[in-house]
Amino acid sequence: AALAAQTSRFAFEQLAPQTDGTVHVPEGYSWDVMVRWGDKLFSDAPEFDMQSGVPTEGSDRVFGENTDGMEFFHRGGTQLLVVNSEYVNTRVNLPAEQDGKPASADDITRLQNFQGVTVMEVAEGEDGWAVVVDSPYNRRIHHRSAMMIDGPAAGHDLLKTAADPTGTQSLGTFNNCGSGRTPWGTYLTCEENFNGYFGTTEELALDEVTAAGFQRYGVPTDVSEGRYNYHGFDERFDLSKNPNEPHRAGYIVEIDPWNPDATPIKHTALGRFKHENAAYALAPDGRVVVYMGDDERGEFMYKWVSEDIYVPGGDTSTLLSKGQLFAAKFNDDLTGSWLALTPQATGMTEAEISIFTRMAASAVGATTMDRPEWIAVNPTMVEAYCCLTNNSRRGALNDDGSVRTNAGGEAMVTNAPNPREINRYGQIVRWKPHADDHGRATFDWDLYVMAGNPTVHPEGPYAGTANINEGNLFNSPDGMQIDSSGLLWIQTDGDDDNEGDFAGMGNNQMLAGDPVTGEIRRFLTGPNGSEVTGLTWSADRRTMFVGIQHPAAPFPDGEGNLPRSSIVVVKRDDNALIG
Ligand code: FEO
Ligand code: CA
Ligand code: CA
Ligand code: CA
Repeated sequence: AALAAQTSRFAFEQLAPQTDGTVHVPEGYSWDVMVRWGDKLFSDAPEFDMQSGVPTEGSDRVFGENTDGMEFFHRGGTQLLVVNSEYVNTRVNLPAEQDGKPASADDITRLQNFQGVTVMEVAEGEDGWAVVVDSPYNRRIHHRSAMMIDGPAAGHDLLKTAADPTGTQSLGTFNNCGSGRTPWGTYLTCEENFNGYFGTTEELALDEVTAAGFQRYGVPTDVSEGRYNYHGFDERFDLSKNPNEPHRAGYIVEIDPWNPDATPIKHTALGRFKHENAAYALAPDGRVVVYMGDDERGEFMYKWVSEDIYVPGGDTSTLLSKGQLFAAKFNDDLTGSWLALTPQATGMTEAEISIFTRMAASAVGATTMDRPEWIAVNPTMVEAYCCLTNNSRRGALNDDGSVRTNAGGEAMVTNAPNPREINRYGQIVRWKPHADDHGRATFDWDLYVMAGNPTVHPEGPYAGTANINEGNLFNSPDGMQIDSSGLLWIQTDGDDDNEGDFAGMGNNQMLAGDPVTGEIRRFLTGPNGSEVTGLTWSADRRTMFVGIQHPAAPFPDGEGNLPRSSIVVVKRDDNALIG
């Protein structure tokens, strides 16, 4: 123990698991709410009503709901926080008597406004960090904001609609989950569960290609109201009228936070799937590498490598549109390779690979994964990590005794990086590219951690790896970032009932991991009901911004008030570097 204390990378004592309705951080640290869903970005925005939320008029002038991925940018003295708002809690946003069901086009507009991306200037004053209300950088990008489409799928017939016969301009960015950034200072927002916003008011008669795509991507094709019922009030989301609209979502979208007038760009070259986040690295020769996960049971991990090189201050316009997409194959001998998704290897055109990327990855034999969530690139060593959050269906059997498959029909049997059936706890896979070059097609890999519960399952795969112990229990790793000192920060989106398989884990949380020793310590716990997701730092790393998504009532405003997703700031009491 004495030796461990001497060699520990951590400047904090482990926090115990918590089960209450607020945020906790270790001794010597403090937290504060910086911004909540519905807080004003502009002084003319409506006041938030603690019982009814925000009216439709002005709902695009407040901080969005369900905060997720975020990135901090600074230039001179100006500091911007760019934040995703992944989805809406319809029960929180709609009058109680509607039971979470939209009843008018006005309801739909309000829901659409609360999602997407918020760009906001922030500053630290005597009372802590706050949004700079009315900053010229403040901006909301939502489900009706104009987008440009570029890359191989731009202009393809499958992207054309009545409103956009060119197939190059769409409205809205959807289910913005994880985030990323580019070396040239732009923000990447990642479209995840876009399928859930579509539906149909009539029986569909789809062509074979579209039908197969809807099946693989889970686009609902039965006549029903579905989760959001946009299609009941907004024709664009009605597949009987606009069957190509879903082909225009599921992409990586680039936003220039420094130019409020710049139209966001959907980069189809980086593939269409349920994008979690986008983590960049630079290859030694200057090519831009972007790692991405597809968060669905039995789907894949991806890598983009640009054709041109990044030159600071040079032309960056091709770096996310010209290049090669790859899918990951993991071998049992702890090596792996990135399989190029080329027309030759897949039998598909470049445009088809961009639109039906999941099928392209299946065609080359990529490894089915346990829901790839965030990927993080270590800035201090040539390696990267991916959270494989869980997979309740791996190894599970259908009624006829066959093993369950992914939506592409591939059996989800166990494999080396996903070694557990009915994986409730999740794991983090790490890879080191050969020749210390993220541009290389081959790598070595290992499991950094398999989460588990050695208290409930003292032996066997559900105990987890040796770096899991009674003190640091967690499940379902999801958000992840590596700070500039090389510490791995892990956020969870799991079962927080603290019972049975999950006993002793408490609420969702954020832990720090030492990449070298594998030691993991709990640093922060969220309020019950919440997921901890989204993490970034101020330029001086004395402030950490942490997202609290879908907390239970009454976080953070107290009894009798609506629950509000929020960004909290964490600092050391002595204002030293965090971590
Ligand atoms: Fe939106 Fe996969 O988390
Ligand atoms: Ca997530
Ligand atoms: Ca998750
Ligand atoms: Ca979530």
